[in-house]
Amino acid sequence: MIVEELRNAFLAFFEARDHRRIPSASLVPYGDPSLLFTSAGMVQFKPYFLGLEAPPAARLTSVQKCFRATDIESVGDDSHLTFFEMLGNFSLGDYFKAEAIEAALGFLVGVLELDFERLWVTVYTDDDEAFELWRGQGVPAERILRYSAELGNYWYSGDTGPCGPCSELHYYFGDDPASEPRLPDGQIDLESPNFLEVWNLVFMAFDRAADGSLTPLPSQNIDTGVGLERLAWVQQDVRSVYETDQLRSILASAEAAAGIAYDPDGAPAEASALRTITEHARAAAFLIHDGVLPGNEGRGYVLRRVLRRAIYFGYTIGLRDPFIEGVIEAAIDASKSAHRGLDEQRAFIVRVAGDEERRFQAALTRGIELLDGVIEREAAAQRVPGREMFTLYDTHGLPPELTRELAAARCFEVSVAGFVGVRAAQRERSRGETGFSDYGGDEAERFAALGLDSAFLGYEALEAQSAVVALFADGERVDRLEAGAEGEVVLGATAFYAEAGGQVGDRGEIITGSGRFRVDDTQPLGGVHVHRGEVVEGALAEGEAAEARVDPVWRAGSRRNHTATHLLHAALREVLGQHVRQAGSLVAPDHLRFDYTHPQAPAAAELREAQRLVNAKIRDDIAQETFILPYEEAIDRGAIAFFEDRYTSEVRMVEYCEARVAPGAAHRHTPACFSRELCGGTHLHSTGGVGNFVITGDSSIGAGLRRIEALTGPEAERHIEERLELVDDLSQRFKAPPAEIAGRIDALEEQLADERRRAQAQSASRAAGVAEELADQAEHLNGVQLLVAVVEADSADALRGMADRLRERMDSAFVTLGAVIGDRPQLLALATDDVVERGLRADEVVKAAGAVVGGGGGGRPGRARGGGRDASRLGEALEAARALARERLGGA
Ligand code: SER
Repeated sequence: MIVEELRNAFLAFFEARDHRRIPSASLVPYGDPSLLFTSAGMVQFKPYFLGLEAPPAARLTSVQKCFRATDIESVGDDSHLTFFEMLGNFSLGDYFKAEAIEAALGFLVGVLELDFERLWVTVYTDDDEAFELWRGQGVPAERILRYSAELGNYWYSGDTGPCGPCSELHYYFGDDPASEPRLPDGQIDLESPNFLEVWNLVFMAFDRAADGSLTPLPSQNIDTGVGLERLAWVQQDVRSVYETDQLRSILASAEAAAGIAYDPDGAPAEASALRTITEHARAAAFLIHDGVLPGNEGRGYVLRRVLRRAIYFGYTIGLRDPFIEGVIEAAIDASKSAHRGLDEQRAFIVRVAGDEERRFQAALTRGIELLDGVIEREAAAQRVPGREMFTLYDTHGLPPELTRELAAARCFEVSVAGFVGVRAAQRERSRGETGFSDYGGDEAERFAALGLDSAFLGYEALEAQSAVVALFADGERVDRLEAGAEGEVVLGATAFYAEAGGQVGDRGEIITGSGRFRVDDTQPLGGVHVHRGEVVEGALAEGEAAEARVDPVWRAGSRRNHTATHLLHAALREVLGQHVRQAGSLVAPDHLRFDYTHPQAPAAAELREAQRLVNAKIRDDIAQETFILPYEEAIDRGAIAFFEDRYTSEVRMVEYCEARVAPGAAHRHTPACFSRELCGGTHLHSTGGVGNFVITGDSSIGAGLRRIEALTGPEAERHIEERLELVDDLSQRFKAPPAEIAGRIDALEEQLADERRRAQAQSASRAAGVAEELADQAEHLNGVQLLVAVVEADSADALRGMADRLRERMDSAFVTLGAVIGDRPQLLALATDDVVERGLRADEVVKAAGAVVGGGGGGRPGRARGGGRDASRLGEALEAARALARERLGGA
């Protein structure tokens, strides 16, 4: 079977066993800051395992895109991949060990017809139940090994969160198990290259806390994972993942670029480099598709490492010109049938990778030469010093991890501590994989414990009748909230929108028979809408009937800005290209902020074009339609899905397609949908209500990421009014109609420049006159002309000009001038070279004189400046300068 057939066979097998098929979530985990990337099929289901949210079904199956940064440096061998797809079946409190074991064998042996005799299994050390279940399926005891947690038979989803003992299926490629290496306890070592782990069955029954303690989960669950490429390796009976159909076609493109035929038995370095390029190009394509862009922090840094590693390994096999784009194209071709978005974003993905390659390649050759030099120089220490690592990183773009890897290949160590020290001293960069806080589930748990799914009635109404289900103050559940108390209210049903998808939570009030609660914010926590605010009248008590009333003005603003956000997104895609994707957004009642991917700053004309398009669609008054439908169907209909969203059940699709105004002379009919997005937010019934849209700013917020700020409705109108008022005001001040203001400013600037030139000429001729007079005042001291004087100057430049003129007139001289410029005493001293040689230095004199006026000074021996705060002592300061000069010239 080819990879695509395997994928479908797996999903079909579990669908036939009543599993709901769930689309892959993004590689960027949704709402889980504890994880950098989605690294397993269960990641998107974590809230279900923890009991925080109700799953769409008790049995799920998926093929999840995964990325494991921990495996980067192992890539190049036969089996390790940073990016792979994980086939999985999941039971949420439904079946447990017996059915999971039976199904795994049913698929591998029953459907794929793998040789049963080649399957070996592990069970957790004391898991007799699993042992007996495998025995019951006919696996002989000698092929069931008992592996401990240290040997990998206990699976944790992270430092905290769902976990459980596991049972793994391994495939044996060899001929004689008896000759395989053994562990100290006498059991066969499944790390031997003749074994390949294909399937991990996790009996997910515990939640690990930060202190390491385990508490049973609300139910016993199953989480299994099979690497699609590994399964293809076994099933296609080839020698590595790289010889399975999809990866082989990408490898072919790497071969073509390098002009080298892939030979797994030939030069190991060449084969490994080709495999690395293949894997990393594919991984990069998927990461960029999911919104990650090369950067110096977090996910962006990992992508940068992956791309640079590929480019470096290309370099080792002679690739000096850009090559990554071709391999990325091949990766997109290989994967596009199951991942249509890759093809849609092809140009953008290729460009991002190509830009990174050009940036890195330019510096790489020099970096490698530098590293070679260090390796030669440090032969005795066998260690790359931290400062060299930093230069390689900072100047040549070599990620420190790559330097470490290259050094290790030459039996060198690297000074990581030294590198960190130098980097910290220089600047705080590359925060790497840290900076991600713990999974913020604690708060959610408090509300999830209510076991409630509060009904949201706010799409249709702004008011809802219900009852107070729970009250909280300071995080503790209470029976009552008295007047003046701040707290949280949970209702059985509400009309308040809880913050999501960028749209802020609703405000308003909750009225009961005995009190009134002002709602300042609404948040979605643990499956319920949590209203936060303060009791402003009477008291609220649990169990009371309550009416939720959303502030209609607040909501109207949010709706207007949310609709405008969709229009803007669609307009940007039309004007800048289909690669544009939402990377974040804020929908507030009075403004909107839209973050999007685009490799460079859009031209002002492009932004204006997008703004015009949005306003045209507002005038078209396009009707909004909302559909609840399966995710695949929405995607088939062209809906845009955000990369951070998780689609586990039916989705809500908001579209703006047909103009409501009957097509007429002045109106262009829009047959296709202008905007179609998956969205849970609240929207206007038609675009006309947005009224008005203006972009007030566009700026860069990271490599390839930009942010637009915009206003709608009354705020847009106010903005335009303010601008117009400004123009009117300018028009009055310049006494010119608006169209002539710019010309008037140009003329004034020219006039100003003329005036400046004239003033400068005047001040130069004045300075020349003054210099003339001053030169005559110089005293002659042992062949040196000494001049110390207070002069009038209106700027430091004028003072300098005067001193320079004096110097031009004197052969051997020491000059100190003082002037009060803008209330401050300033000093300037000049000494000809021969005077400096005689021990009289301008900097020394200025320092001493500056001290007298409460300041100081400095510069070079031949020219120095100084100053202070006390202008009244300028004369005294100059006397001090004169005394010092006389003393040094031997005249005092
Ligand atoms: N979560 C487990 C793993 O990643 C099984 O899917 O191995």
